[in-house]
Amino acid sequence: MENLSYKAYIVEETGKKEFKGQVRQTPLENLPQGDLLIRVHYSSLNYKDALSATGNPGVTRKFPHTPGIDAAGVVEESRDPRFPKGEAVIVTSYDLGMNTWGGFGQYIRVPADWAVKLPQGLTMKESMIFGTAGFTAGMSVHKLIRTVGPDQGDILVTGATGGVGSLSVGILSHLGYKVTALSGKTDTTLLDSLGARAVISRESLLENSKPPILKASWAGAIDTVGGEILATAIKATGQDGVVTCCGNVASPDLPINVFPFILRGVSLLGIDSQHCPMNLRQTVWERLASDWKFPMLEKIYDEIDLNDLDNKIGLILNGKLTGRTLVNLR
Ligand SMILES: NC(=O)c1ccc[n+]([C@@H]2O[C@H](COP(=O)([O-])OP(=O)(O)OC[C@H]3O[C@@H](n4cnc5c(N)ncnc54)[C@H](OP(=O)(O)O)[C@@H]3O)[C@@H](O)[C@H]2O)c1
Repeated sequence: MENLSYKAYIVEETGKKEFKGQVRQTPLENLPQGDLLIRVHYSSLNYKDALSATGNPGVTRKFPHTPGIDAAGVVEESRDPRFPKGEAVIVTSYDLGMNTWGGFGQYIRVPADWAVKLPQGLTMKESMIFGTAGFTAGMSVHKLIRTVGPDQGDILVTGATGGVGSLSVGILSHLGYKVTALSGKTDTTLLDSLGARAVISRESLLENSKPPILKASWAGAIDTVGGEILATAIKATGQDGVVTCCGNVASPDLPINVFPFILRGVSLLGIDSQHCPMNLRQTVWERLASDWKFPMLEKIYDEIDLNDLDNKIGLILNGKLTGRTLVNLR
C-alpha cells in the first residue's frame, strides 16, 4: 500500500496569507500515523472546510493541507480489533481536516478512537449528506427535545438554508415540531419542502429587537449564526425555553443582558460537536440512521467531485450556498 498514490485537494500557502487549493496525486506515505487507513467514499463541504481551505489560522496552521472535516469510507488497514478491514466507518470532528489531512482526499489515516461504525439504516452516502452539519443538527435537536416538546410552541431555526440549519428544520419537522425558519434568502422552496411552517427574514426578526426582553414567540430555538440574531432569539423565547448555539457566521458576539435567563428561565445550551463524547456521538448517529432520518434527505444535496470544490468554497464563504454539498471520492 505504501507505494500507492491517491487523489486529494491540497491547499498550499503560495504567499503571505495567500492560499491555493489544487487537485493532485499524492503519495500515501504523506498521511500521518494512525490506527486506521480508510478509503474515503464520501465527504461533505462544511463552513469550517472553507475556512481551512482559505488559510484561517483558527482552523488550520500547517500547510500543505487537505481539508475535509468529515468522511465516510471503508477500513483498508487496521491496528485496532474494533474496526477490522472492510468495516464501513464514519469519521467526523477531533482534528480531522483541521491539522490532520481530511476527507477531501481518497484516503485518510486516523486514530481508531475517532471512528464510528456506520450504523444500520444509513448508507455511506446518506451519512455524508448529513455529515458534520447533520451531526451538529442532531446534537442540537437532542439537547432541545429533552426539554421542549412538539406541543409547547414553535421552534425558531436560524441560518435555515445552511447545512446545520436545513438539517435541523428537516429533523424537527419530521418529529412533529412546528418550525419557523429564519433565512436571508428570498427563495423558500427548500425550507417549504423540509416542512417549515413559516419562513421569516433576518430584517423582520431584528425589527424592534432592542429591548432587553421581547414578546415570547418561540418555545425554543436552534441558532447557527450568533450575534444579534442569537440575542433576539433568546429574548423572544418563552418561559423555560431552550436555545442552542453552535455557530458564528453572523458574529461571535452576544449582545444581551441576563433578563431572559432570570425572568423567563431560558436556557442557552452550547453545542460542541468536535469534542462530543463517544457514547453521545453513537446515539446521535443511530438516531440519524433511524427515527431522525427524514424523507427529504435525498433531495437537499448537490453532489460534486474534488474539481468543483473551489467554486463551492467561494459560495459557502459568501453565505450563498443552499442545503448540503456531498463530495464523491469513489
Ligand atoms: N459548534 C459546532 O460543533 C459546529 C459544528 C458545525 C458547524 N458549526 C458552525 O455552525 C455555523 C453553520 O455551519 P454550516 O455548516 O451550517 O454553514 P453554512 O452551510 O454556511 O450555513 C450558514 C447559513 O447561515 C446564514 N448566514 C450566512 N451569513 C450570515 C450572516 N452574515 N448573518 C446571518 N446569517 C447568515 C445563511 O443561511 P440563510 O441565508 O438561510 O440565512 C447560511 O446558509 C458555522 O459557524 C459553523 O462553523 C459549529
